[in-house]
Amino acid sequence: MDRVLNLNRVGYGAMQLTGPGVYGPPPDREAAKRVLRRAVELGVDHIDTSDYYGPHVVNELIREALHPYDGLTIVTKVGYRRTADQDWVPARTADDLRQAVHDNLRNLKVDRLDVVNLRVDGSHVPLEEPLTALAGLREEGLIRDLGISNTTRLEEALAITPVVCVQNHYNIAHRDDEPTLEAAAARGVAYVPFFPLGGFTPLQDQALDEVAAAHDATPRQVALAWLLHRSPTVLLIPGTSSERHLEENLASAELRLSEQDLTRLDTIG
Ligand SMILES: NC(=O)c1ccc[n+]([C@@H]2O[C@H](COP(=O)([O-])OP(=O)(O)OC[C@H]3O[C@@H](n4cnc5c(N)ncnc54)[C@H](OP(=O)(O)O)[C@@H]3O)[C@@H](O)[C@H]2O)c1
Repeated sequence: MDRVLNLNRVGYGAMQLTGPGVYGPPPDREAAKRVLRRAVELGVDHIDTSDYYGPHVVNELIREALHPYDGLTIVTKVGYRRTADQDWVPARTADDLRQAVHDNLRNLKVDRLDVVNLRVDGSHVPLEEPLTALAGLREEGLIRDLGISNTTRLEEALAITPVVCVQNHYNIAHRDDEPTLEAAAARGVAYVPFFPLGGFTPLQDQALDEVAAAHDATPRQVALAWLLHRSPTVLLIPGTSSERHLEENLASAELRLSEQDLTRLDTIG
């Protein structure tokens, strides 16, 4: 299938490489680094992260495993910070965002971030001020491209500044965000569904099992392939801490679903 943003359509989401609750170090740092290296060996050219995963832990693992990132695009997120008691706190003032960008630059050990997503969360949250602050950091050369996350406000964002991707909760069983997915396709913006496999609530459905059996595939591969078929600008970032699951997820790019499969899968969600 075609590439999106000049990237392979199946990348890797690194959020699972922390301790429980997306906080602290993973149980086995070397195993986490092996997953990252294996992802790149298998052709992943796009990794999704944030400095608030851990916090800092995931970016440090990515740096230790993969620096200097030859040919790899690393997409990070800003707009929140973690507290010592593991809470998630909005951090979207111009100072917060500058700090977050510098934390990402330092922990990933780069001079410029490839893509920075502003995590928005909610229609009441001001968009213009934080996005303009990030556009200023892009102007300074600290960021190549911007994206947005956890928001349906793509048109509003595009009226403020160019954005190349939008990252929202979407999967075969959770389709509320279809209007944003359609808008992204119409605008040539990458749509990056998070929780593509259901996140902390793994996807399960008889239709997935049936289509998987017919293709000698797994239900997870069918769920990922369905997303790739759903829109031409979808880019995937399934997360896993397992090399075996990683291999399985990457192979979903080769799975071709028929019209009959898609009709059967449409009964989900
Ligand atoms: N913008 C946001 O607010 C936001 C929010 C959440 C996530 N994200 C991003 O989106 C990425 C993807 O989301 P996610 O990792 O939370 O959820 P996900 O990709 O839907 O699912 C990950 C879960 O599925 C399991 N899994 C993965 N592949 C599997 C396979 N082949 N067979 C069986 N189980 C499998 C993983 O466990 P194992 O480790 O055992 O494989 C993990 O528990 C994250 O890594 C993160 O980068 C962004």
